[in-house]
Amino acid sequence: MITSRRIPANRASEPIRLIQYAARPVDSRSDRGAFQRPVPWRLQYFIVMGGLMILVGSAAGCGTPKPQFEPNLAFMRYQKLAESRADFDDPELREQIDDIEHAVQWLFGTPDAPKLPEFDATELNHFLDLDRLKRSAGPVGGDLAEQTGGLYRQHCARCHGINGSGTGLMAGLLKPYPRDFRRGVFKFKRTSSQVPPTRQDMMRTIERGIPGTAMPSFAELSEEDRLALVQYVQYLSIRGELERFLIVEVAMELDEGERLVSWATREQNPDRFEEEVGWLREVASEPMRRWAEAASHVTHVPEPPEDWRSETSVSRGKALFFTTLTNCAACHGDTALGDGQTDDYGDWAKEFEPGKPAALRDYLALGALPPYKSQPRNLRLGVYRGGEDR
Ligand code: HEC
Ligand code: HEC
Repeated sequence: MITSRRIPANRASEPIRLIQYAARPVDSRSDRGAFQRPVPWRLQYFIVMGGLMILVGSAAGCGTPKPQFEPNLAFMRYQKLAESRADFDDPELREQIDDIEHAVQWLFGTPDAPKLPEFDATELNHFLDLDRLKRSAGPVGGDLAEQTGGLYRQHCARCHGINGSGTGLMAGLLKPYPRDFRRGVFKFKRTSSQVPPTRQDMMRTIERGIPGTAMPSFAELSEEDRLALVQYVQYLSIRGELERFLIVEVAMELDEGERLVSWATREQNPDRFEEEVGWLREVASEPMRRWAEAASHVTHVPEPPEDWRSETSVSRGKALFFTTLTNCAACHGDTALGDGQTDDYGDWAKEFEPGKPAALRDYLALGALPPYKSQPRNLRLGVYRGGEDR
């Protein structure tokens, strides 16, 4: 388990593509750097970027600028990297945020050009297939001749967002909201609670959709396209989990003035730099390993007993429904209408501190969707999100 960044690296050096980062498209950075936006930067960002897009578009003769993976600002706030929204103006914090995003990009690339780190543990290098990721990444119809690329933006981004934050253009209109892949937390799976879904679990979700929610079925896509999309969701999750880890690291472990990775002084101190990027790859291997090993944590669900519809079985179930062992009735209500306890927030919403109005305002301004309380299902409707049948 990797907990601290001061772990000596013992790997060969690899060329660092600082240029790639420095050459971020004009739409995503101002002269002062990508994260140096004044508050309320969201609004200003859109105004300025809109203007830039038109300018750049007409000057260069090309339409849409290259999208970037937006940083997970809400989680930075949650980890108290910034204690308030105004803190995001602090130049030192901006440098730290830039370091985090730079590190994630160094390992995983951009929405148009995904990359994968090379791990010492070779079995991890085969879990995701870069060709499949490229089939999902990039602009819609990326390679017109081959009809490849852009699958994710064509089919998923409007709900799940370019970076998998679950805050795409349509997301705010939906309930439940689309999943935030960056947390690595999923519902419809056969693995135990802390373990991510298997690839097969996700293939199933994407093929059948999630009944009773906006998540559509993608059964009309080819199996190969669905697999490419599943791998891309896994990629966004692993990337997002790494970003979250680095945010915690910067918030908890770094001393005053200390940098996550010393990109600027790598020439002067190559050994230290190698140690740091070696540590980065180690840290990235953690979520990669969790996903790669998920298939060995599948829970065996036994077939229902022959007599499951019998009167004795049903009355046993009824008795259990009302016990404190199961607490089913406490949430779903005595008659299963879903009218029991309804004042709890789901795990995804809890991170936006819905009970604290001042904090919540920050999260909303930083891109979070308004939290809502989770609704125990009305079990009498017969609509099941995770059921066997389509
Ligand atoms: C119209 C909006 C919409 C589109 C388009 C969409 N999704 Fe979803 N997706 C949702 C919603 C809403 C949920 C959450 C459902 C829930 O919480 O029960 C979800 C959940 C998921 C989940 C999480 C399942 C779990 O086990 O927790 C995955 C994976 C997923 N979507 C993948 C995709 C992929 C891949 C695409 C594109 C091929 C896609 N979605 C397109 C709305 C959408
Ligand atoms: C802490 C509150 C709570 C308890 C306790 C609870 N549930 Fe639920 N249940 C929920 C919520 C909330 C949902 C809706 C989840 C969602 O929207 O995806 C739900 C959804 C369900 C569903 C729908 C699943 C699907 O695939 O659509 C079933 C079935 C269900 N619960 C049965 C039970 C049974 C049986 C028990 C007792 C063994 C139980 N629940 C205990 C809160 C609870």
